[in-house]
Amino acid sequence: MGIPALSILNMKVVETVDEMKRLSRELIEPMGFVPTMGYLHEGHLSLVKRARMENASVVVSIFVNPTQFGPKEDFRTYPRDTQRDLALLEKEKTDVVFMPSEAEIYPDGFNGWVEVSKLTERLEGASRPGHFKGVTTVVAKLFNIVGPTKAYFGQKDAQQAIVINKMVADLNMNLEVVTCPTVREPDGLAMSSRNIYLNPEERQAALVLYQALNLAQTLWSQGEKDAKRIRQQMTGLIQEQPLANIDYVSIADPKTLKELEEVSPPALASLAVRFGKTRLIDNVVLG
Ligand code: PAJ
Repeated sequence: MGIPALSILNMKVVETVDEMKRLSRELIEPMGFVPTMGYLHEGHLSLVKRARMENASVVVSIFVNPTQFGPKEDFRTYPRDTQRDLALLEKEKTDVVFMPSEAEIYPDGFNGWVEVSKLTERLEGASRPGHFKGVTTVVAKLFNIVGPTKAYFGQKDAQQAIVINKMVADLNMNLEVVTCPTVREPDGLAMSSRNIYLNPEERQAALVLYQALNLAQTLWSQGEKDAKRIRQQMTGLIQEQPLANIDYVSIADPKTLKELEEVSPPALASLAVRFGKTRLIDNVVLG
């Protein structure tokens, strides 16, 4: 009898970089990897399911990455539920969960940063300075530690997926990035770990994100090419909702993230809106 393949053993939970590196050498390729910050929902699980379909082994990381949160953001209060997350991942037949501590990823004296310029100055980057530097640094580290064949990201965070693709291309990283569709609640609200912060009134008001994106889609499919007019109509619709505070409404080129004057497909319609203390983002691709 040979040693059974790791992927048919029970799920392993690994907390150190050394152990993860050692295990990743034993996992059967192709290996799919899904980085997350935990508090998993169907959006995250759709990435795990896709990774499971396309790979011989699947690694998921859970790490609430401090360096991607601004000083006034919700790092300390970001929702966490490890036991529930592990049960969900086991159900999806995850092989390994990598769950490092902060000190494991950022030991004393840590100074190696990975940064993609330009793309990260727009949209989320303009509203959250330093955010993408934290994201690209942690994702580059996770790629080095886990060594996946393919890594899975959600279209929900469109700019993040674009920035990660650019990092992988520009730094010649040896893996494929797969972007998966946004998973929504039955009423259209994009699933997000942060939805739990919304009170019932805000939860209802938050539907305006999806309505504004649908409006963009409708206007565009009716022949509206003027990006400014689409932005204005979306903005008008959101402003009718008293609990909504707009951060940005954008119709941009998905390659450069520069704002478009004329919509020539594909165009990325995206927005960030605050409801009380909760900031939500969503997007659709026109065309
Ligand atoms: P997190 O917000 O936990 O999201 C992990 C992955 O799940 C991301 O790729 C995100 O785009 C995807 N995702 C979230 N909601 C989704 C939805 N409704 N439909 C489809 N996919 C969805 O994004 C991060 O963590 C972090 O920035 C990370 C990449 C882990 C780096 O720290």
